[in-house]
Amino acid sequence: MQPRRSDTERPLVPIRSLGENHRGRIEEHLLSLTGDDRYLRFGYSAQDPQIAKYVEQLDFDRDEIFGVYNRRLQLLAVAHLALPAQGDFPSCAEFGVSVVPSARGRGYGARLFERAALSASNAGIELMFIHALSENSAMLKIARNAGATVHRDGGESEAFLQLPRATFDTHVTEMLEEQVAQFDYQIKVQAKQFLGLLAGLQDMRRGGVANSKRDAD
Ligand SMILES: CC(C)(COP(=O)(O)OP(=O)(O)OC[C@H]1O[C@@H](n2cnc3c(N)ncnc32)[C@H](O)[C@@H]1OP(=O)(O)O)[C@@H](O)C(=O)NCCC(=O)NCCS
Repeated sequence: MQPRRSDTERPLVPIRSLGENHRGRIEEHLLSLTGDDRYLRFGYSAQDPQIAKYVEQLDFDRDEIFGVYNRRLQLLAVAHLALPAQGDFPSCAEFGVSVVPSARGRGYGARLFERAALSASNAGIELMFIHALSENSAMLKIARNAGATVHRDGGESEAFLQLPRATFDTHVTEMLEEQVAQFDYQIKVQAKQFLGLLAGLQDMRRGGVANSKRDAD
């Protein structure tokens, strides 16, 4: 992989690994994609039931699913690193990603790609594949920027990234990134709960003011 920007230029994106308890939010995120985006993400015009089936079949034990949350705990971006089932091409994995339109151009797609590559490398994977439509300039740019080789075959393109061998450093980096993201998520959960509490208090106060006004009338 080729590093492109220096660390100071790169936006800090807390990317966390998602588990079973995020399945509902992953579905919500994917269902929010427009028809065109679903076509780019899945390679066909996935309908709601097909997305529901895809989410239902996500295997959180085998694969890695990564996400970027905002302060309201909405999933802005989701990436799926599909790792091989036992016995199937043990050194290959496939990457897929989606970012909500309002959060595009902030580097989330590229950061998720890097995070997935790091995780794949640490899992002993040598090649990461990306299947994209040839018109998908953003996805192909992400792959090329990271050093992937792209084979174009008419309307479809296959990109593959050769991953470096895992080292002690890559394992530590992944662990630290995950811890930072988990911490960031917990803060967001607490902030959301606190804001909910404040809104409740505000409602009670408004109710109290309305009652005292009624009593005074
Ligand atoms: C593809 C997608 C994930 C990109 O997400 P993103 O967060 O906007 O991407 P980034 O901000 O990381 O941008 C990555 C690169 O693509 C470039 N880019 C972004 N949109 C572009 C566009 N429409 N055309 C050309 N290049 C584009 C950026 O400039 C950046 O390159 P740079 O770092 O050299 O400047 C997003 O557009 C998306 O969700 N599309 C629908 C689903 C999809 O296509 N998934 C991929 C198939 S698996």
